[in-house]
Amino acid sequence: MQYDFESGEYSAEQRAYAARVYNILSDKRSEKCKALVVTFGCQQNVSDSQRIRGMLSLMGYDFTEKAEEADFIIFNTCAVREHAEDRVFGNVGAVKKYKKQRKGMIIAVCGCMAQQDRIIEKFKTSYPYVDIVFGTGVSDRLPEFVYKKLTGSKRIFENELSNASVKEGVPINRDDKIKGFVPVMYGCDNFCTYCIVPYVRGRERSRKPEEIIKEVTDMVNSGYKEVMLLGQNVNSYGKGLKEDINFAKLLRMVNDIPGDFRIRFMTSHPKDCTKELLLAMSECEKVERHLHLPVQSGSDRILKIMNRKYTAKDYLSLIKTARELMPDISFTSDIIVGFPGETFEDYLLTEELVKEVEYSSLFTFIYSKRNGTPAATMPDPVSRAEKGKWFSRLLAVQDEIGLRLEKNKIGKTLRVLIESENDGELVGKAADMSDVTTYGDPSLVGTFCDVKITAYDRGLTGEIIKK
Ligand code: SAH
Ligand code: SF4
Ligand code: F3S
Repeated sequence: MQYDFESGEYSAEQRAYAARVYNILSDKRSEKCKALVVTFGCQQNVSDSQRIRGMLSLMGYDFTEKAEEADFIIFNTCAVREHAEDRVFGNVGAVKKYKKQRKGMIIAVCGCMAQQDRIIEKFKTSYPYVDIVFGTGVSDRLPEFVYKKLTGSKRIFENELSNASVKEGVPINRDDKIKGFVPVMYGCDNFCTYCIVPYVRGRERSRKPEEIIKEVTDMVNSGYKEVMLLGQNVNSYGKGLKEDINFAKLLRMVNDIPGDFRIRFMTSHPKDCTKELLLAMSECEKVERHLHLPVQSGSDRILKIMNRKYTAKDYLSLIKTARELMPDISFTSDIIVGFPGETFEDYLLTEELVKEVEYSSLFTFIYSKRNGTPAATMPDPVSRAEKGKWFSRLLAVQDEIGLRLEKNKIGKTLRVLIESENDGELVGKAADMSDVTTYGDPSLVGTFCDVKITAYDRGLTGEIIKK
């Protein structure tokens, strides 16, 4: 992809830095320098990494998947659970040896972990071979950081969050040509007591509707078949904007964009999921009948100390309203097992709720203590082993439900977006995100097919129905 250094809204200052990096790199060598972008965490981070790749392309980098041939390695990190952080430290440690072999290699760490002072300190003192560490609030300044490093600067550490406004126009380098993420808002104001995200992503900021519409229109015009509108809590979209807009209205606007594509969105916080939004969903033909609605727990006592601001009853009534409006809707959810002070009785209420809702799939996590969050100081008497038992029990409950729902699809016709082909086998996703395997011409990749489900064997298979 070729970029124009002079045009676009992306900060003139950063574009100028990118142009200078470009010149330095092209003076240095005949072949292009290569970059490796390693991404951890949620869709927001995947989306941010596409902008990082966009900025790197602008600077003249090509990409590689091999650390040993990279001139620039960047880790875009996640802080949501301890395990996520441990993996990052492990991965960063593993590239140290390549730096010794490859002269001039730059190693950078960015994203949610790098937003925290304690992590910056750890990289400063224990990872001397890491050259650049920067948080989510300054990620658009990557060209400046690379330029400074290439021109002899010492190690760079930046994690200011106060200027975390919405930066438009950062070039995007998407890897997938069929489906893509479109952030509609950044940050989170909810402060669930277990969660680090509000501290590492800052306050909620919404993108202007015209920017979102323009991005989706461009994607649809260049052949994209699915857009996923992203935000930590898309339902509070629009807060602070001059326009009279909310997420339901935005959904209708995106739905009005001409073209054959599907719309998904995540994440919806149940406390802000309104009837207006469910109505918009039911009336917009491009919006898939699938709702990711994280419940976290089925116990009102735990929901209260989690600061979730709804009860299990409120949640179930939302599910009921959604089903009344869209009988074919499917649900997925996030659940935390073993929140501080959670008892087995609380856990059983979660299990009961899971059985009642019948999710098509669940993302289940054992509570992980995050320093700086209110839950980190709450008494947590239940052992990890005991929590592990509850966790496995919940997985077994969900497996049974998931399997039953999958088998119920046999004989039904599902609309599937075909995403890949291998030896005549086509694999795609149905509305509820389930994988469907079918057979047909490779040219069907990137198209919607009606697939009649014929069997279930660790996954759905079916035959394409000719229109
Ligand atoms: N904004 C989204 C997702 C946030 S992070 C939402 O509100 O749903 C994704 C999931 O990680 C959360 O839904 C939660 O289930 C889980 N999570 C967040 N913090 C956690 C922690 N400290 N321990 C375990 N799981 C956690
Ligand atoms: Fe975390 Fe809660 Fe915000 Fe989701 S809504 S990002 S769980 S604080
Ligand atoms: Fe992780 Fe940051 Fe996403 S903490 S879950 S990458 S917002």
